[in-house]
Amino acid sequence: MKNYEECMLTPTRKLTDVEKELVWKKPISHKVSEEELRICKEIKRNWNSGELKIANILLEGDAGSGKTQLAKALSANFRLPYTKVTCFADMDKSDIIGAILPVISSERLEKMEPLEQNVLKVLYESDGFQSATEILMNELGDTQEQASLKMKQLLKIVPQNTEDEVIEYRFYPSEIVRAYQKGYLLEIQEPTVIRDAAVLMALNSALELDGSINLPTEIIRRHPDFIAVITTNRSYAGTRPLNEALRDRVQHTEKMDLPTKEIMIERAISKTGYEDEKVLDVLADIIIVLDKTARVNAIKGVAGMRSYFYWADAVAGGASAKESLYHKVIYKITTDSEEIKLLEDALKSRGLLAGLDKVEIELKKKEYLMR
Ligand SMILES: Nc1ncnc2c1ncn2[C@@H]1O[C@H](COP(=O)(O)OP(=O)(O)O)[C@@H](O)[C@H]1O
Ligand SMILES: [Mg+2]
Repeated sequence: MKNYEECMLTPTRKLTDVEKELVWKKPISHKVSEEELRICKEIKRNWNSGELKIANILLEGDAGSGKTQLAKALSANFRLPYTKVTCFADMDKSDIIGAILPVISSERLEKMEPLEQNVLKVLYESDGFQSATEILMNELGDTQEQASLKMKQLLKIVPQNTEDEVIEYRFYPSEIVRAYQKGYLLEIQEPTVIRDAAVLMALNSALELDGSINLPTEIIRRHPDFIAVITTNRSYAGTRPLNEALRDRVQHTEKMDLPTKEIMIERAISKTGYEDEKVLDVLADIIIVLDKTARVNAIKGVAGMRSYFYWADAVAGGASAKESLYHKVIYKITTDSEEIKLLEDALKSRGLLAGLDKVEIELKKKEYLMR
């Protein structure tokens, strides 16, 4: 067992079977990165140092650079259940804390609209282990935002249907509260999009190291194993930066860029199974130049790892490398003719388009020989 691997933060802790299922299992394609090693070391080093404990982490950088996978890797390394919340613009406080719903009689339930009936039934039948939105996401296939919207509609409608016969209320904690109370690893995706300042404040206070959250039903304390990982794409012109107060809550930050070319190739091989390193090398060079050029010229789109994977996969499947460069990479960055010209010029001046032509010829030759 290596130093960073498989260490429980609270050694005496026993996970339930359901919780064990939530611990991420590293696929064989997972490659341990420097960032992963560094964070694990840091968390372990400071785990028992009270106020200096590191339990809120920020991963900021390019889309596809591996932020989510890194958060999941921490779940695997520390044997913590992994869970996430995907933020959206109209999030409100019930998305941060949770919602309280009356349990209404089955006769009244029958009289409600089928959709609302269905949502309520799904909620009532749940074991209270999951958060309300999670239940709706799993049972009804909703996105986080749809589930949250349904909950809010219910909160408006249900009281009118209960009149004076309510006997029991049930509290459905949010995913955040659940992770906080039970000691999970929570990925908070893109909190930059949240519009309401009060919601950001609520999130911020939920990240206090030695904090507690006041629920309508009880006061809960932060579980010592709770780790929050905020992941956000680096802000470019037009997007909001991460709220300063939230930033201030974080005890360790990683700047996540396009990985080195070697790592790009390694990940592409393990992801696509395509092993022609000479071709992958040329494609990686092109992605790197496009990424830089887009940045320097304030072109909004990104050429990142995802484009690289899809492009490599298309080439592996027999597509023309040059043609798919446009469909998998360039048009994803921009469809503006002038910007495309800038990107093409950058590639030409470095001989990369010629390099791509050479790759194309070699691939054709190979294909011919295979026939
Ligand atoms: N450490 C890693 N080892 C192997 N592949 C990785 C690793 N990190 C990320 N990837 C690959 O890159 C893709 C994008 O990573 P992801 O974590 O979703 O990026 P982000 O959250 O930054 O947008 C993943 O689907 C995964 O296949
Ligand atoms: Mg992500």
